[in-house]
Amino acid sequence: MHIGSIALPNALFVAPMAGVTDRPFRMLCRSLGAGYAVSEMVTSKRELWASLKTSRRADHDGEPAPIAVQIAGVDPAEMADAARYNIDRGAQIIDINMGCPAKKVCNKWAGSALMQDEPLATAIVAAVVAACAPLNVPVTLKMRTGWCETERNAVRLAKMAESAGVAMVTVHGRTREQGYKGQAEYDTVAAVKAALRIPVVANGDIHSPEKAREVLRLTGADALMIGRAAQGRPWIFREILHFLATGEHLPPPATHEVQRWLTEHLHQHYGLYGEHIGVRSARKHIGWAVRALPGGEAFRAQMNLIDDTQAQLRAVQGFFETLADAHPLLPQLGALADSAANDEDDNNKNLTARAA
Ligand SMILES: Cc1cc2nc3c(=O)[nH]c(=O)nc-3n(C[C@H](O)[C@H](O)[C@H](O)COP(=O)(O)O)c2cc1C
Repeated sequence: MHIGSIALPNALFVAPMAGVTDRPFRMLCRSLGAGYAVSEMVTSKRELWASLKTSRRADHDGEPAPIAVQIAGVDPAEMADAARYNIDRGAQIIDINMGCPAKKVCNKWAGSALMQDEPLATAIVAAVVAACAPLNVPVTLKMRTGWCETERNAVRLAKMAESAGVAMVTVHGRTREQGYKGQAEYDTVAAVKAALRIPVVANGDIHSPEKAREVLRLTGADALMIGRAAQGRPWIFREILHFLATGEHLPPPATHEVQRWLTEHLHQHYGLYGEHIGVRSARKHIGWAVRALPGGEAFRAQMNLIDDTQAQLRAVQGFFETLADAHPLLPQLGALADSAANDEDDNNKNLTARAA
């Protein structure tokens, strides 16, 4: 699998998720099998680039190549500047966001709202490709199936993008109007795949190895992208890779291994965000990690009251040590996939609050 001339180790990607796929989480997913990780979106608004939030999003310290940065905005010249700015800071691939339905983004006519204005979408793609081509940086595009049920224009936009020089297109199988509700559909993704020569990535509601195989079969896509199902379960990438390669399921990870991954993730997280924000923003990751485990809900409620990082870390260690005594392998309560796929309320709140 290649993006332009850049080779990837495999064709299973972690989806960009604002407020989730920061550098520590991307690195965790990569270490557990994801072949590619795109940063959370970075605004094209120059005045915000120096803000702490945007500079944290543009932090790639120690991240394995290729470094991919997603940009969002509505002005072709600003988007081209944003691409150049991020390339100067290490981006090796630039991804254009035409998929995010968050109000804060759509009110500014960015994200998936751009799918409704094809001339503007075309101008943005052309400007970003023109900025990146001389630097030999591939441009990719992430979109939904369309604006609404009656306006599924993904195939037209994807063909436009390919003609303009885009190197890969990702399609989330929902319209903008759907937000995260209902089920992702894969017919439109399959139609995009059939219409293009460049690689096409299928995304939406892939939460198990079987579903991954099914989406590959239905779409013929070159790669799969996984978002919510990786929250609290980043080893899903190696599970899917193993299943696709062998047709067999990996056993669940050892509980102490999960403890080690989460501990390392928390250290990295605190390092990026510092004490005050770190302890608060780590809660969602810990909550996702424990939500389907025995005693997880009660632990989550207690842990949310802790407001220092060392105490939070000790609480997490204690929870997993007790769990490991009773369950050397991580217990499978069967609710993980469903809770990830149905976490729409949480995710929508998260999106609206964090997208910028
Ligand atoms: C909390 C959250 C934040 C997201 N942020 C972004 C984003 O910054 N850029 C983007 O293109 N998509 C974003 N998305 C959409 C995901 O990349 C993905 O397309 C969507 O979640 C469907 O995939 P899934 O069913 O595997 O989660 C976000 C989704 C969630 C849940």
